[in-house]
Amino acid sequence: DWTPNAFVHEAIEAIKQQVGDGQVIMALSGGVDSTVAATLISRAIGDRLHGIFVDNGVLRKNEFQQVLDTYKEIGLNVRGVDRKQLFYDALKDKVDPEEKRKAIGKLFIDVFQQEASDLTNISFLGQGTIYPDVIESVSVHGPSATIKSHHNVGGLPEKMHLKLIEPLKYLFKDEVRKVGLELEIPHDQLFRHPFPGPGLAIRILGEVTAEKVKLLQDADDIYVRALKENKLYSSIWQAGSILLPIKSVGVMGDERTYEHTLALRAVTSVDGMTADWAHLPYDFLAHISNEIINNVRGINRVVYDISSKPPATIEWE
Ligand code: XMP
Repeated sequence: DWTPNAFVHEAIEAIKQQVGDGQVIMALSGGVDSTVAATLISRAIGDRLHGIFVDNGVLRKNEFQQVLDTYKEIGLNVRGVDRKQLFYDALKDKVDPEEKRKAIGKLFIDVFQQEASDLTNISFLGQGTIYPDVIESVSVHGPSATIKSHHNVGGLPEKMHLKLIEPLKYLFKDEVRKVGLELEIPHDQLFRHPFPGPGLAIRILGEVTAEKVKLLQDADDIYVRALKENKLYSSIWQAGSILLPIKSVGVMGDERTYEHTLALRAVTSVDGMTADWAHLPYDFLAHISNEIINNVRGINRVVYDISSKPPATIEWE
C-alpha cells in the first residue's frame, strides 16, 4: 500500500544514496511539483541542494517575494535572481505565441547556466518531473506536445553534463500534494493552481511590455483574491486573466474612455487535458467586473470566457 509517510522515507534514503556527498542544482518555479521535489531533496542533503528561482518579469503580482518567503519558511537553500529586464528585452516585438515561448525558454536556460557557473562541484540536476510529464513526453501525439511547445528546462541536463534527480517521477498530482502535506509544506503553496512556465507572457496577447504586465498583474490579483475570499478557488482547476489587444469605448463619470478589454478564464478539469469552463455565480462575476474596472486604470471592459477544451485550450496562446 502506498502511503505518503513511507514514500517520504524511501525517497529521502534513495536521494542520499544517489547523491552521496555531491551537490545538486535545481530551477524552482514556485509551482507545486518543484517545491515538493526540492523539499524532499533538501531533507536528504540539506544545503547541498542549490535552488535557483528566477524573476522572469511575467510572474503574478508579488509572487516572486511571496514564493521566496515560503521557500525560506520551508528551509530551502534558494537564491532568488531578478532578471525582469532581460526578459522584457527578449520579448520586445515578439507577438507570436511560440516565439514568445522560445524566447523565454532560451533566456531562462542562459540565466540558469550563468547562475550555475558560480557554483562548484555540481553533478546533479533536481527536477520536479511527475508521472504525467513522463507519459506526455513519450507520446508524440499528445495534444499539448504538438499544439503548444510547453517550455520547461528541456535540454539542460545534457548541456551541463548533469545526472537527474527526479524523486516524483512515478507520482500523480494528488500524490504529490499528499507528500507535500506529509512534509508540512504550507497549504497555500500546495494547492495553487497550475501556472504556465511562460507565465503572463502568454496571457498578454500580442507584444509583452512591462506596462501591460503591471496592468494584468493588478487585475489578476483582484480576480484570484476574490476567488479565494468567495471560497471558489479550490473547486477550480485553474483560473487566470488575459489582457486582450483590443480597445473599446466606455464611459467613466462623464468622460469617454478608450481602454483595454480583459478576459477572465476559469476551468474545471482533472488533468488539464480536457476542461470545462467553470460556471461561476453571476453575482460573483458582476462583483469582480466592477472591482477590476473601478480599480485598474487602463481596463474598461471585462468579459468571461465560456469555451471548453477541446476545441478551445485553457490558455489563449
Ligand atoms: P492548454 O492551454 O494547452 O494548457 O490547454 C494546458 C495546461 O498547460 C499549461 N501550459 C503550459 N505550461 N509551459 C508550461 O509550463 C507552457 O508553455 C504552457 N502552455 C500551457 C496551461 O497553463 C494548462 O495548465
